[in-house]
Amino acid sequence: MIVHDILNEATLCFAEAGIPSPRLDAEVLLAFCLDCDRLEFFKNPLRPVDEKVLALFQKLVTRRLKEEPVAYITSRKEFWSFVLEVNKSVLIPRPDTEVLVEEALGICKGITIPEIKILDIGTGSGAIALALACELPRIRVTATDISAAALAVAEKNARNLRLDSQIKFLQGNLFQPVGDFFDIIVSNPPYIADEEYDKLPGGVKNYEPREALQAGLGGLDFYRKIVNEAPAHLKHDGWLLLETGAAQSVKVISIAEASGQFDDMSVRNDYAGLPRVIKARRK
Ligand SMILES: C[S@@+](CC[C@H](N)C(=O)[O-])C[C@H]1O[C@@H](n2cnc3c(N)ncnc32)[C@H](O)[C@@H]1O
Repeated sequence: MIVHDILNEATLCFAEAGIPSPRLDAEVLLAFCLDCDRLEFFKNPLRPVDEKVLALFQKLVTRRLKEEPVAYITSRKEFWSFVLEVNKSVLIPRPDTEVLVEEALGICKGITIPEIKILDIGTGSGAIALALACELPRIRVTATDISAAALAVAEKNARNLRLDSQIKFLQGNLFQPVGDFFDIIVSNPPYIADEEYDKLPGGVKNYEPREALQAGLGGLDFYRKIVNEAPAHLKHDGWLLLETGAAQSVKVISIAEASGQFDDMSVRNDYAGLPRVIKARRK
């Protein structure tokens, strides 16, 4: 069979099953099987595909039809300017989180000291920590996670990207393993409300780690804890940046206001126009 026909068949199959981006997923999976770039398919749609590759592709299509995310099937996900290795121990990094990276880098530009210390709470695959470290060599990140398996993925990504000298990884509950002061604290914490968890799409609920997602009744547990504990680890005038669910930003701002520890609070929208990142400066 040739690429053109294989892609059309798989796209149709995914579309009928209600997979959200059928053509893209078919292309990514076939490119993975052929170890080539997707652009190759535009250049050479008549390329023949041998039986062995086709058999592998069909296995991956079957996994995708069971809603397994493409990133877990291929063990990789693009984020910022690089490709990260991922597995089921880590949340698949989302493009929305790049807005948090942009905001943190904007703050860094105004900091003139030779070494900027950043804490990333709940680093998962290391996405945020790595994006920050790769943009500015004077950034030093401490990246924590409660999950040892997630930290193993993050550490591997740091080595692969040769950024390990800029990042220290620590396992533990939120601030518990941290004994330092930071210029910036960032986090994309779990924020799915208990009552919303069962309504998540199957691809999220059945494959991504529950501990990366679920955050108590109302989904605000981690925001309350982080807002309350962050001031003890922030330098004066240091910044706290939190990714939030689209409907949570007002509530998270209220939590920060009620703590009495922050001012200069603002919300940054993501590229879909939804509130996504809150920024607050320690008084
Ligand atoms: C929503 S994911 C974010 C992952 C990554 N920062 C990103 O943006 O793709 C939340 C992360 O917080 C971690 N986590 C959950 N509870 C935690 C806790 N009590 N202390 C530290 N990390 C925790 C999870 O293991 C997960 O990796």
